[in-house]
Amino acid sequence: MKETEVQIEDITEANLQDIPESCRGCVYWEFPEEFDKAKLEKIETQKRLEFEEKKRTWFVQTLKEFGTCGKIVYYNDKPVAYAQFAPSVRLPNTSHYESKPVGKLEEGVVFLSCLYIADKALRGKGVGGALLKNIIDDLKRRGYQAVETFARRGDPENPSGPLKFYIKNGFILKDRTNPEFPLITLFLKFLSQASHEMKQVFLSIADILSEIFSAKRADDFIFAWRERFFGCYLFHK
Ligand SMILES: CC(C)(COP(=O)(O)OP(=O)(O)OC[C@H]1O[C@@H](n2cnc3c(N)ncnc32)[C@H](O)[C@@H]1OP(=O)(O)O)[C@@H](O)C(=O)NCCC(=O)NCCS
Repeated sequence: MKETEVQIEDITEANLQDIPESCRGCVYWEFPEEFDKAKLEKIETQKRLEFEEKKRTWFVQTLKEFGTCGKIVYYNDKPVAYAQFAPSVRLPNTSHYESKPVGKLEEGVVFLSCLYIADKALRGKGVGGALLKNIIDDLKRRGYQAVETFARRGDPENPSGPLKFYIKNGFILKDRTNPEFPLITLFLKFLSQASHEMKQVFLSIADILSEIFSAKRADDFIFAWRERFFGCYLFHK
């Protein structure tokens, strides 16, 4: 895939209609009490349009209060992927997960709620990694301290994707009260720089271990050691 074929754009009021169809009317994070995931596919047109309008209003308000809170990836000018991130207070469903506490904007923490490559043919080609990097660079530029998400350990079916993807991109464990949906963090300031080489060492060890053991056991190894080196010290656990 040539770089020139892929473009990552901030979501603005002008391109809201380019959010992939399955995400455009999804209000799972924003209005959890109204969202019934089991019924989303079967939802009648009227309700879907209502949700789309709610999501649109959410974006307009969040753009006003927080600034850029989403990205769209275009491949040959066609929207193929989407990401959403915002202060956790704008995403009330974050408080319904067992792993906690989710960081607040006052602490400089932004929550990554969705990262989704809608076009299945483009998965596993680096688009997700490039989109995540674009978000990280954006949040760093804006001076935030950290970005967090709930990753999923045993299944890629998850609004922001699987744990393995985030481990690969340098995230560390914050809390795993629910081991299937741990809360993970990426520090955007000095610590992420200072620990960069250390992370590379861990990742190399993990790669060797994944060859020898199952991927899950390798993940456990990374968690145990990252927790020991970074987690205890940072989160007083
Ligand atoms: C998860 C996702 C965002 C990753 O983006 P991507 O472009 O496919 O990933 P990249 O090519 O940048 O990175 C690949 C790395 O991510 C990890 N990864 C990606 N998809 C994975 C999967 N399904 N299972 C495990 N690890 C995965 C791996 O570490 C992989 O590296 P490897 O191939 O060397 O093992 C994308 O695959 C996706 O949207 N999947 C659908 C998730 C879903 O169903 N979400 C529901 C939304 S409500």
